[in-house]
Order: sequence, then C-alpha cells, then structure tokens
Amino acid sequence: MTIQEFKSACSTIEQEYKAKIGQAADLAAVEELRVAALGRKGALTELLKGLKDFSIEEKKEAGPLGNALKAALTAAFDEKTEFFAAKEINDELNKVNLDLTLPGYPVAKGHRHPLSVAQDRMTDILSRLGFEWAEGPWVEDEKHNFDLLNIPLHHPARDAQDTFFVDGKMPLVLRTHTSNVQSRYMEKHKPPLRIMAPGRVFRNDSLDATHSPVFHQIEGLYVDKHVSLADLKSDLTAFMKGLFGNKAEIRFRPSFFPFTEPSVEVDVKCVFCQGKGCNVCKGNGWIEMLGAGVVHPNVLRNCGIDPEVYSGYAFGMGVERLAMMMLNIKDIRTFYENDLRVLKQF
Ligand code: DAH
Repeated sequence: MTIQEFKSACSTIEQEYKAKIGQAADLAAVEELRVAALGRKGALTELLKGLKDFSIEEKKEAGPLGNALKAALTAAFDEKTEFFAAKEINDELNKVNLDLTLPGYPVAKGHRHPLSVAQDRMTDILSRLGFEWAEGPWVEDEKHNFDLLNIPLHHPARDAQDTFFVDGKMPLVLRTHTSNVQSRYMEKHKPPLRIMAPGRVFRNDSLDATHSPVFHQIEGLYVDKHVSLADLKSDLTAFMKGLFGNKAEIRFRPSFFPFTEPSVEVDVKCVFCQGKGCNVCKGNGWIEMLGAGVVHPNVLRNCGIDPEVYSGYAFGMGVERLAMMMLNIKDIRTFYENDLRVLKQF
C-alpha cells in the first residue's frame, strides 16, 4: 500500500461511514456500524494495521491522519447514540399523556398547634430574660412533687381528689405541677440558677370547659444572693409586657402557696375590654395569669441550698390559660380534640 492509497482509503472510509451513520435507523444499527468501522476487525482497524509497513517518514504523515479519522468517526457515533437515547425518552413520554407544564398538586402544609405557639412565645421571652430550659419527669415521687416543696402530708393538694397516684412500691404520682423541676434542679445545681421548665402536668379533674386532667405549665425559678420580691416584680412585669405589649397593666395580689413566702398572684388588665369588664374576664376587668413568690426558706434548705446565703423567686403559669386568652378560645377542650376545622383557624 502506498501512502496515496492509504489517504484515499481513509477518505473512502470517512465518507462511507458518515453516510451510513446518517441513515442508521436505531441504536442497534449504530452499534453494528461502530463495530464494523472501529471494532477489532473493523474497516479502520484493518487499514491502520497497514501502517507497520510504512517507512518512518510515511508513518509520520499517515499516523496522525489515521488518528484524526478515528476521532472523527468516534464523535459521529457518539452523537448519533445520544440522539437515539434522547429520542427513546421522548417517544416514551409522548406515549403517555403527560403535560409537564401543568402545576403540581399542592401538598397540604401543617402548622404548629396553638398550645405550642403559646408556649414558644412564653419561653422565647423568658429566654431573653436569661432563663435556661429545664425539664423533669411526668411520673414523679412524692418527695419532689410535694415534700421538698414544703407541701406537708395533710395538705389538701395531696388529697386523692387532685392527684393521680401511680400503683407501685414507691409512692409515685403524676406530677401535679411543673414545680417538681424546682426541687430536682436545686438538688443538682448550686446557685446562681435561673431556669424555665415548660411541660405537661396532671390533676384528677374531669374534663369540662375550663378543666382538663392533663394540661401544661411553665415554671420559673431564679436563685442567687439578694434575690427579692422586687426582682420578681420587675422580671414578671417585663415578661407580661413582652407577652401583651408595652401598655399592658399588671397587678400583684397577695396569695398563698406552701413553697413561697410571701406569695403573690399576678393579674393582667383584660386585653379584650381594657378593664371595663367583658365575658373573657367575667366582668372583673382583670385576668389571673400566674402564681409566684419568694422561695420559702424551707424549700431551699430541703434542696441543699443555704437560705441564710441565698434567696430566690419562683412562678408557675398555665399555658392553656394564656393560649385561651390570646386566641379568645372559650373551651379548653378545643385544644385536645384535634378538630382540624378548628385548628386550621389559628
Ligand atoms: N405550682 C403552682 C400550681 O400548680 C403554681 C406556682 C405558684 C408555681 C407559685 C410556683 C410558684 O413556682 O412560686 O398552681
């Protein structure tokens, strides 16, 4: 074979296969052609075998020509293969009646439960006031739910009327308030401490418009040197204003809790009637929001904190009560029935 013959064989192969690739009817035909041209016994492969008989000078001319042809044919085969692959997908899509431009079906999105929204609002404000999140068990021993909190054995709150008792060897109860977190936390941590403890509590009440055997509270506790009723007043005022706005009016009333001395109850001027009296505040003009007080020295002592050195304040409030007020819900059962027609409104 002369170099001239090599060159003309190259262009014959190029023309022949480019024409055949152009006419190939499907993927299988392309693959067949690829083998016929570039396979082990393919036309181009056979031609290139002739190179070995060329002189070095001739090889320098013929070699690059052969390589260029191989690259050109490979590119032509690949292009055709891609064309058929895309065509296959399109044909498949055209078989089904599919309009890719149609908008999708909307996925129904849920949202947080109103009680979670209310709890988050309260814990948000408290955390900005420096309170750290704390938790305690729902099934609690009487020691942490009552004894350490200075609630004596004969106290009416320990009566079977209010408390769910759990059968078992140890005297266990379902915690009647989040105050159990106070005693548990103070046993383990030394002051200064400043915690909020949101959570579920249980009372032996039957379910009606304003009572539920299961509800939620948030407990607050601050213990350090020189903590006084003045700190409690200023912090709870800031908290209430955070909840109800700067114009909210707050009032502190003397009260009694075994675990605080002195004890107070905190009311907010009714946000619905501005104190004139309406059905939400039952004509009072004020709504009771929470119980609080200066931690009783017995409670500190019971939990291993020296009341001569440290003092503190504590408070506890109902999440349902606040949510009912925020959302003007009259019946506490609304929260537990999971009626989507109702929940979707909030
Ligand atoms: N534990 C009380 C209750 O369940 C609420 C409460 C009142 C908590 C005063 C406190 C407090 O920490 O100081 O009704």
